[in-house]
Amino acid sequence: MRVLVTGSSGRLGRSLSAVLAEKGHEVIGAGRNTVGIPGVREVTCDFTDEQATADLLAAEKPDAIVHLAAIAVPFGAPEREILVTNSVLTHTVLAAAADAGVDRVLCSTSPTPVGYSSPDWRPDYLPIDEAHPLRPAHAYGLSKIVMEEAAAMFARTTDMAVGCFRPCYVIAPEEWAGAPTQQGHTVLERLEDPALAAVSLFNYVDARDVGDFVDLWLTAPKDAVTGEVFFVGADDALAYKPIAEIWREYAPHMGEGADALTEGLAAFSNDKARELIGWRPTYTWRSALAEAGVAIEEVPA
Ligand SMILES: NC(=O)c1ccc[n+]([C@@H]2O[C@H](COP(=O)([O-])OP(=O)(O)OC[C@H]3O[C@@H](n4cnc5c(N)ncnc54)[C@H](O)[C@@H]3O)[C@@H](O)[C@H]2O)c1
Repeated sequence: MRVLVTGSSGRLGRSLSAVLAEKGHEVIGAGRNTVGIPGVREVTCDFTDEQATADLLAAEKPDAIVHLAAIAVPFGAPEREILVTNSVLTHTVLAAAADAGVDRVLCSTSPTPVGYSSPDWRPDYLPIDEAHPLRPAHAYGLSKIVMEEAAAMFARTTDMAVGCFRPCYVIAPEEWAGAPTQQGHTVLERLEDPALAAVSLFNYVDARDVGDFVDLWLTAPKDAVTGEVFFVGADDALAYKPIAEIWREYAPHMGEGADALTEGLAAFSNDKARELIGWRPTYTWRSALAEAGVAIEEVPA
């Protein structure tokens, strides 16, 4: 399949594009800059520019688009700019894809619409799944809801298969090996100070596992994925101890439902992705660190 990845030069895009190329897709990486991704042809485009986006799709004729380009971090820009930019980017890509006759578009949103970054937030239940109510606490989370509603609208009103996935905190191979993760700390720092990962409910996912999810989504029957939203997270929590043992100290807002998160269970369910398209994450944080050659000296939380 000829797949165009927007935002391919980013933290997730580099690994995801390389995985899709390894799986035999013809991958065109498109974004504001190029970074040299193995097996991927890279081009530049500003996806807020309607004409440039239309011209790129007319020239490249992709079968599918994986849309990652965004302001990708809460409070990474002024609130209004995040809301406007992420909404406009998504609508521009979806509208151009529909005009160009693209078959499928998969958009990367986020678990943040659920709202766990607000101090007043309480989950309705744990583990959290795709049916959990949305209560965003910032413009980034709100922008991801706009993106999901835009995807649903194009799924209803065009012949394209359109859907979304909500990746948990993405960790790329170089980050397992010691490079700083999105929030600036290393994986070991997040493990050694549970307060760092508690704000995101200890969620994470390996970037290569996200690549596997995207490959399965692209090749699944269209009616199994169109209009759907999927959490894409690891089976386990990014913590030395089970959440059930540490939530009272580090994430009291999770409430007593977190007592069920024993034996390393994650706060976000990935059951829907398994049931609808057969995806399972292959990495745990322990196996990914071991593969990266990083010794784990478990310290009491
Ligand atoms: N990294 C995570 O932990 C995480 C978690 C949940 C959701 N997400 C979402 O996944 C996607 C990718 O995240 P990331 O961590 O790789 O982000 P990133 O910031 O590393 O990469 C974003 C990419 O988008 C590009 N981009 C931004 N505006 C653009 C424009 N106008 N035209 C063309 N390209 C543009 C950037 O140049 C960059 O290459 C984003 O939508 C993000 O919100 C990421």
